[in-house]
Amino acid sequence: MKVLELRPRDYDRGLRWLTAGRMERLRLRLAEEWVESGDRVLDVGCGTGAQALLCARQGARVTGVDSSSAMLEEAHVRAIVQGLSDKVDFLRLDALELAEHFQPGSFDVIVLSLVLSELDERSQKRLLAACQTLISNGGRLVILEEVVPEGRLARLGYTVQRWFWVAVSAFLTGSTTYPMRRPQRLLADAGFRTLPLVFYGDGLCMLLGQKAPLQPRAEESASDVPELRHRTTPRSLLRDLACLVTRIWPPYLKVRPGLYRIGRPGRSAPVLVTGNFDLTVRRVVKAMRSMSGYLLVADSRGINVWCAAGGGHFTAQSVITAVKRSGLEALVAHRRLILPQLCATGVDGRKIEDATGWRVMWGPVRATDLPAYLARGNRKTESMRGVAFPLLDRLEMSLVMWWFMAPLLAVIMFIVWANATVPAVVSLLALFLVTGVLWPWLPGHQGTTKGLALAAGSVVLTATLSLLALHLPSEQLFNWCIGLSALALFVGADFQGADARRRGGEVEQFPKMVPMELALGAAYLVVPRLMGW
Ligand SMILES: C[S@@+](CC[C@H](N)C(=O)[O-])C[C@H]1O[C@@H](n2cnc3c(N)ncnc32)[C@H](O)[C@@H]1O
Repeated sequence: MKVLELRPRDYDRGLRWLTAGRMERLRLRLAEEWVESGDRVLDVGCGTGAQALLCARQGARVTGVDSSSAMLEEAHVRAIVQGLSDKVDFLRLDALELAEHFQPGSFDVIVLSLVLSELDERSQKRLLAACQTLISNGGRLVILEEVVPEGRLARLGYTVQRWFWVAVSAFLTGSTTYPMRRPQRLLADAGFRTLPLVFYGDGLCMLLGQKAPLQPRAEESASDVPELRHRTTPRSLLRDLACLVTRIWPPYLKVRPGLYRIGRPGRSAPVLVTGNFDLTVRRVVKAMRSMSGYLLVADSRGINVWCAAGGGHFTAQSVITAVKRSGLEALVAHRRLILPQLCATGVDGRKIEDATGWRVMWGPVRATDLPAYLARGNRKTESMRGVAFPLLDRLEMSLVMWWFMAPLLAVIMFIVWANATVPAVVSLLALFLVTGVLWPWLPGHQGTTKGLALAAGSVVLTATLSLLALHLPSEQLFNWCIGLSALALFVGADFQGADARRRGGEVEQFPKMVPMELALGAAYLVVPRLMGW
């Protein structure tokens, strides 16, 4: 269903089509059978408000909460159009923050419709526990959800039909849903008496729970938190490769934001924060493989923390949301978050401290320094603070940038000079690799200056090769020199964006590069005429 959420306006139409109208009928049935006039209803993850508005029609006073402002906007509009806006309140609120916003016993009915499957199992348990507190005595919990059937054959049929949608959703949104497993047990553990489960095909299920007398709930422990482990396997190597080729092109490989554990963390274990780019998370886990701790993965839209912080995608708010949803306070005895130093440019630590009460500490630049940093009592050495750009990182960025530019160059060359397509793409790779190797030694501090040096070097090398071995005709030699210079200038300006030690990056360098590229274009047009080629 994640795919449908991309377009709130078409969401309900898509859902109707996908479930062949079953979802609509279920919603109607839920409102008619389980909601009475005067009931106080909470619809968690209300989306476009379809269920909330049906409950309001029954005469209930409804509160709909959702974490997506786009979905809520659509819900607001529908409430106004249907003349029900005085009976429904829509709030932007995370499902895992309900207990902080509402008093215990505030609702007679809580509806969870297709929202539990958006949460991992630990969060499902935490949400159900919050619902138990918020429902009044004798109140009802009504769940409409995708549930994994228990019989083997039914499970096989369900898995096959689901596979296609998982692939589509992963491709378009980089995320997936988590259908419920053994929902009755989950509900019983959370303090609900359940009625028998009713399946409506494709795993769609209606589940009813009645608040049971509150049972003391065991404190959550580290083992309830999903674990991340470092292992080098063919799958992890494939993911490394995928991260390399999709670093600039979306969809980026993402990790689901949330709280994870590394090893067996105790109550004094460190809490590390990072973004949800798959490669970053795996590198942090690898660096921490001999230690234990919690890793709080905040949403950075699948981009590495440095770029995401610079681009406004990884902010104090991303960290605040992650902390509030994490349930960390029950797991550790301290209130310290360790953030990567490289995101400090875009993340306001004081804002996080004011909003959460957690102290922000800026950790080392490189994940590999984390064990030493922690062993020193969260203190950095000068080298842990310094931003370096070593050869391996430079070569990695050369490949990433080449992979991003190569298809564009291939298309352009194919249109203007088809025969030179392959040599041009190979030359681009060579230029990126040479730039990666020689970057610290290329003259100048600016990418365009370094690009000029690279262009001069390419011209000298091509002319020498032509003189000694290739014996290219003058016009061809000239064309190659112009083409390589244009590429070299671009590569120099572009590569600056990969160097975290320099300000500005491509945004600053490209305008400086453009006049030089235009001069090369003019030379390409004028010189052959002057020379009579
Ligand atoms: C599949 S839609 C279901 C919408 C609606 N309940 C329905 O039955 O059609 C899931 C909704 O849950 C919301 N959601 C996902 N995670 C959430 C969270 N942690 N807190 C609040 N809402 C969340 C999404 O924004 C989305 O609107």
